Amino acid sequence: MKKQTLLIFVIVLLVGISYSFNRRIKNRIVNSDDKIEEKVDSVLALMHINEKIGQLVQYSGKWNATGPSSSNGDQHKLNKLKRGEVGSMLNISSVASIRETQKIVMEHSRLKIPLIFGYDVIHGYKTIFPIPLGESASFDLDIIKQTAAIAAKETAASGIQWTFAPMIDVSRDARWGRIMEGAGEDTYLNTVIGVARIQGFQGDDLSLPHTIAACAKHFAGYGFGEAGKDYNTVNIGEYELHNTILPPFKAAADAGVATFMNSFNELNGIPSTGHKVLQRDILKRDWAWDGFVVSDWGSIGEMIAHGYATDKKHAAEIALNAGSDMDMESYAYEAHLETLLTENKITIEQLDDAVKRVLRLKFKLGLFDDPYKYCDASREKSEVYSKENLEIARESAKKSIVLLKNETNLLPLSKSIKSIAVIGPLANDKDTPLGNWRAKGKYSSAVSLLEGVKNAVGKKTKIYYEKGADLTVPTLEPGENQFLHPLKFNTTDTSGIAAAVEAAKKADVVLLAIGENAFQTGEGRSQTNIGLLGVQQQLLEEVYKVNKNVVIVLMNGRPMDISWAAKTIPSILECWFLGSESGNAIADVLFGDYNPSGKLPVSFPYHVGQEPLYYNQKNTGRPYSSKHVTYSGYTDAPKTALYPFGYGLSYTSFEYKNLKLDKNTISKNGQIKLSVEVSNMGVLDGEEVVQLYLRDIVGSLTRPIKELKAFEKILIKAGDTKTVNFTINADMLQFYTSNKVWEVEEGDFDIWVGGDSSASLKASFKIIE
Ligand code: NOJ
Repeated sequence: MKKQTLLIFVIVLLVGISYSFNRRIKNRIVNSDDKIEEKVDSVLALMHINEKIGQLVQYSGKWNATGPSSSNGDQHKLNKLKRGEVGSMLNISSVASIRETQKIVMEHSRLKIPLIFGYDVIHGYKTIFPIPLGESASFDLDIIKQTAAIAAKETAASGIQWTFAPMIDVSRDARWGRIMEGAGEDTYLNTVIGVARIQGFQGDDLSLPHTIAACAKHFAGYGFGEAGKDYNTVNIGEYELHNTILPPFKAAADAGVATFMNSFNELNGIPSTGHKVLQRDILKRDWAWDGFVVSDWGSIGEMIAHGYATDKKHAAEIALNAGSDMDMESYAYEAHLETLLTENKITIEQLDDAVKRVLRLKFKLGLFDDPYKYCDASREKSEVYSKENLEIARESAKKSIVLLKNETNLLPLSKSIKSIAVIGPLANDKDTPLGNWRAKGKYSSAVSLLEGVKNAVGKKTKIYYEKGADLTVPTLEPGENQFLHPLKFNTTDTSGIAAAVEAAKKADVVLLAIGENAFQTGEGRSQTNIGLLGVQQQLLEEVYKVNKNVVIVLMNGRPMDISWAAKTIPSILECWFLGSESGNAIADVLFGDYNPSGKLPVSFPYHVGQEPLYYNQKNTGRPYSSKHVTYSGYTDAPKTALYPFGYGLSYTSFEYKNLKLDKNTISKNGQIKLSVEVSNMGVLDGEEVVQLYLRDIVGSLTRPIKELKAFEKILIKAGDTKTVNFTINADMLQFYTSNKVWEVEEGDFDIWVGGDSSASLKASFKIIE
């Protein structure tokens, strides 16, 4: 080819590429899903190495750090944004701030690749829903999906396209502060609730203006930190990993979750952030998942402290090789990936793959079509914290309440009751019900219990309010960063108790709001004492001495040791941190406008020493003996839970009978149809969560004594009986066996159906070859 011809050819090619790229960037197609791969490739082809690396860099807006603050100042971040060397920002909110930040990139950078903005929208954006653990108690996948969809709508209306939720870490240790953030101790429950949340956030189409990208976290094992300490070492066998921890993540990948976040912990000696088997082999290869993995905050750099990387450069090399695509706040990728590439420590294919994953999501969200698509100030005004959203918050809150005890049928209360004493450190607390991770929930904006009760009763009811005791010293001020603020929970001041006792003497019934402060659970909030801290126990006992009609309204983010109360106090209502509408929702249940239907997603222990406590344990070789002490248990406490997984009462009662299987022997891929009759034995209509548990009696690996495999929440009218049907199939029967595959093994199975994990209505069947 002549020189001139070659030159013309190159010019035409470059013009062509740049035209097609600009066209893609400029054209405003909303549903541009079909050609995404082509578009991703065309953008990638134009990128310089520094721009590629930039897509893998995520910075935080400095005003809302969720980890140790970086030493990198704002000027550095600004320069990088201008050069198009940042892919994502977190902790920036509001249409105005997001528009301003996006503008920096769109106006200065060479390729104008839009930023994606992430935020921890864990249980609501500004309208706050129950904490995830609490909402899981609803066992109501529709309401869970709905609240996630509202959270997405509010988030998207505020300029943000990506939430770092749901957390789907199976969590069995009440000492771990982050137990509040997931669906509790059971793998199946975490799986179905995780998928419901993802569907709620993402909807069917990420390009729609009210949907946002979700993030399955923390991959993997974060809930199993030794001794309940946050960030702690996790040692868990391969089989347990596959059978207990990974299924919710596999389901999330199958459901098309846009992103994954890896975890702070090491897993059997390898930090998850540097875990190739987890991220490259299992997630990206075996599960064929095409989203991107963001590191947790600084977790790439933390591999140095783990003793797994010598310095940040080494950490960046390990992380990228292992499949961590985006670096959240470690500053390791931006500093070292280019050198690592020239030194052949990472490959261009790995880098391109990571970049393509990020670009793919930006295309799916429609950010290339319009980088300011989520920046609509009028939507921000009308769609955030709306009346309709608050109505759903109340709905989800009342469904999340669990009635733990109602011995004398003290509840429901009559609305014309003469007098009520509303007592306790949480009785008129408008902040604690928002829980931890409350995104943009406004300080002290929740409806308190006292307010809820006042809204519910008539003018004639006399209400006495006394705080009785404090829970924290000092309290967290509005806008203060909780991560920089160690609260002191063991207050000793008893001076308020006398007045509380006087109020209790005067009233027909006492509502005692006790439990935990919002910031006792959450990240970095592990505790060794899960009882009633401070002087709450004393307050409870003194009040009970003068008035036996005590209802405990427990607010908390973890299972607590409430053994004394469970023995003594007639009524206990588990109210978690219920969000914006907390007080109204509690009043709905207290006064019988709503018949409680929640079930525990975690076991409540008699004593912290039982932790980690979960219903689906292994049997051991020495399960129980009444004759001697050498069995697997405790000499000073029961081995079972005070309130087991799946447990929760109603103002009516349910009876289970006629459990029938259509056959008792099936082949490995056969099916059994099961039916059971559930009757409402009381005079009130009520909802029941009908739960199905299985046991595979002998396996190539030992199996748990019971595993939840299905549930259905149904409404049964007073006096009615409903037949509930389940189909038992290979999905329920299989597990990750000693062959290292998911398969069904032949043998005998037991099956139980009932209202909690101690269900005794049982049948058996056999699987043959
Ligand atoms: C650390 C937490 O572990 C993670 O869940 C959260 O999304 C990030 N910080 C960002 O805030």
